[in-house]
Amino acid sequence: MKRCSTVIAIGVLFLAIQGTSEAGQSAAPTPTFTKDVAPILYEKCATCHRPGEVAPMSLLTYQDVRPWVKSIKAKVVSREMPPWHADPLYGSFRNDRRLTPAEIDTVARWVDLGSPNGNAADLPAIPTFAAGWQGGEPDFVFEMPDYEVPAEGELPALYFWVQNPFREDKFVEAIEMRPGDRNVVHHGRIDVVKLPEGHTVVNGILIGPDGKPAAEEGGGVQDSPHESGQRFHLISFTPGRGLERFRPGTGKRISAGQWIRFNLHYQPSGVRAIDRSKLGIWFSKVPVTHEVFTRTVGQALPTDATETPVVVEGKEIMRSVAQAAEEAQVFVAREGQARPRGAIPTIPPYAENWKIVGFTAITEPITLYSVWPHMHLRGKDMSIVATFPDGRQETIFSVPKYDFNWQLQYDLEKPLQMPAGSKLMSVAHYDNSPANRYNPGPNQEVYWSEQSWDEMFSPFIEYSVDSLRLPTAAKRTQQQR
Ligand code: HEC
Repeated sequence: MKRCSTVIAIGVLFLAIQGTSEAGQSAAPTPTFTKDVAPILYEKCATCHRPGEVAPMSLLTYQDVRPWVKSIKAKVVSREMPPWHADPLYGSFRNDRRLTPAEIDTVARWVDLGSPNGNAADLPAIPTFAAGWQGGEPDFVFEMPDYEVPAEGELPALYFWVQNPFREDKFVEAIEMRPGDRNVVHHGRIDVVKLPEGHTVVNGILIGPDGKPAAEEGGGVQDSPHESGQRFHLISFTPGRGLERFRPGTGKRISAGQWIRFNLHYQPSGVRAIDRSKLGIWFSKVPVTHEVFTRTVGQALPTDATETPVVVEGKEIMRSVAQAAEEAQVFVAREGQARPRGAIPTIPPYAENWKIVGFTAITEPITLYSVWPHMHLRGKDMSIVATFPDGRQETIFSVPKYDFNWQLQYDLEKPLQMPAGSKLMSVAHYDNSPANRYNPGPNQEVYWSEQSWDEMFSPFIEYSVDSLRLPTAAKRTQQQR
């Protein structure tokens, strides 16, 4: 009898608690734009959704946002916005812009409850951006010459050389590439490069010893920049990307005497346009002890001259310096254009899940900072896996649904220490079937080149070599002693 009443009492208590919580929820104040939603938009959307930026509309004021509320709820709930394609199961990233479940809930409830503006006094300061730069006013700006992009047609990747005025090597703690005309700049990249023997630059164009524009087909990063320094990746630009900040004490080098080379991929927009893209740099304010390098974990372009195996559809292909040079001699004529054809097989027509795996052996201790996948329209997925000397494996990142339009960089939350004897492996799949809605030609054999209708396999990483302490830092330490 007694026991029974206890059970009833607990039951009543339970109902009471439930009741309170339900009542509490319905009594929760309706979120307002000024108090609850604007802070989320300013932090997670404003870098792209502001005047002159990549997104189609600004989301800074209530007037800006009001017409878009239905769409905002849909895109935020489906996690299409903000764009972020790394599988949350692997790794954590310091530039992760995803909304928290609580933030998604706030935005959705605000829209459901009539999206009120709220109290003007609650509105946080609208974020400001110096002359359009995400990083504020740069210390120095490089500008390429004006380039006239025609209204129609397909353009090859174009290169523009800009002189570097510095007499000594400079280290940058942040860099930003800003396209001159976003309507036509699809993506781009900037390298620090040496002027080849006997060449000159006229109005941004490389001129060969014969006085004619010199060809620059092909590309890809120098695989060991710290050994040669010949070609050096500074930054890549794609929508939503373009500013990179290095960690304190690390930075990228702009070598004295070398040139800043813009590499631009234009997409004509139907009207003639003039582009003058820019590179902003911020000099390192603290001593840089470690230079940041960029390379790829595997490559499929014939210009890659390193001895790394690639496994294509299960078959190992070993490439050597000699072989890469030989490959560059072999050309096929296609669309009236001579193209280098590599030992890496082309992707066959209609292949749905064509697989390529690249490797990089870590021969001396490195610190890994960030990763980004680069493929073109047939790119399907990419991941990078680290194997440590004790056999332990860790998936550093995985992009299960690659999207050519969003080539985001993933900055590891905590830099990854990799001892000598570790290994990096990259795995990518391509979809050359009609099921891939971006596929420009499923019936075509796909070549490897920088043209977006061809393919690339570039699993980029950024890292520094632990033993390569910069001499300036060493000198400073000696003086202090
Ligand atoms: C990295 C840049 C970037 C960020 C950050 C970003 N957006 Fe976007 N957004 C875009 C671009 C570019 C488009 C247009 C292309 C597309 O839809 O993919 C877009 C499209 C949209 C659309 C669809 C517009 C339409 O035409 O219907 C909505 C809604 C939207 N964003 C909301 C947001 C919200 C809300 C946030 C923050 C929580 C956000 N976005 C963060 C770049 C961004």
